[in-house]
Amino acid sequence: MKILANDGMPAKTKEMLREANIEVDVNHYEKEELINRIKAYDILVVRSATKVDADLIDAMEFGKTKLIIRAGVGLDNIDVEYARNKRIQVSNTPNSSSNAVAELVLGQMITIARFMHQANVSMRNGEWNKKEYTGVEIFGKTVGIIGFGRIGQAVAQKASALGMDVVFYDRYPINISGYKSVQIEELLTCSDFITIHTTATDTPLIGESEIEIMKNGAFLINAARGNVVDENALILALDMGKLGGAAIDVFTNEPHPNPKICNHPKVSVTPHIGAATMEAQDRIGDEIYRLVVDFEEGFNGCHKAV
Ligand code: MLT
Repeated sequence: MKILANDGMPAKTKEMLREANIEVDVNHYEKEELINRIKAYDILVVRSATKVDADLIDAMEFGKTKLIIRAGVGLDNIDVEYARNKRIQVSNTPNSSSNAVAELVLGQMITIARFMHQANVSMRNGEWNKKEYTGVEIFGKTVGIIGFGRIGQAVAQKASALGMDVVFYDRYPINISGYKSVQIEELLTCSDFITIHTTATDTPLIGESEIEIMKNGAFLINAARGNVVDENALILALDMGKLGGAAIDVFTNEPHPNPKICNHPKVSVTPHIGAATMEAQDRIGDEIYRLVVDFEEGFNGCHKAV
């Protein structure tokens, strides 16, 4: 069994796989070279940098690759339907990064509520702007969570523990005591902080008309996918003072984010680091190991004589 980890793999996971007699190549190949080399591997492991599109999947079909593992949650860099039609299995690691993302979101909420992002920059410039940084507390405020899966629920738990009221909207009916399920319009109008935890969408969930009905001075946090927020509408709303601030970890054009967002004084920006903690990466490694071992057992089982 041979694995290509095209966007890296924790050393501990590589070692565990080696002990199970599974060979792992940790190399990054760009598209053309990857297409030429992929035929030699049983499993491809990617993070978000490698785009697994129809061309790459076609190359796998005529080789031996039977499993693609996304080390992370979002599958938007993989043409899942195309792969499955070619009988190539696609798996992700959905259980590992919820806490890491939720902690980043909570940190960002407090950052933008207390101007920490601005204070950091101004103090490095030798300024002492104490009078400009009177913020608001998150205690007693309402946070609206759009998308109430594992990550959304982890955010809710932490926000609630810090004294926030939680409302949420999810496209599927979910009933969890302690949190109020509302329609999206109600969430937008009643929340002081709005944080999004959905998968990627074809059209933005938050655009001009959604921002228009938000509270004046509301804060928006996006650690989901860049395309769920209309970036131009966001910039306009910040410029006009409609929104009090935003914290943005994900961008429509990664790794080349819109400079107007990165340089906006009301935005706290991070380079898609929601899952980037030692603990989350360890857990992701463990999930990858389990997926590989289960796959190998199933694969060997299929080839046993009956
Ligand atoms: C994910 O989908 O798991 C996150 O966006 C983290 C990542 O891809 O780095």
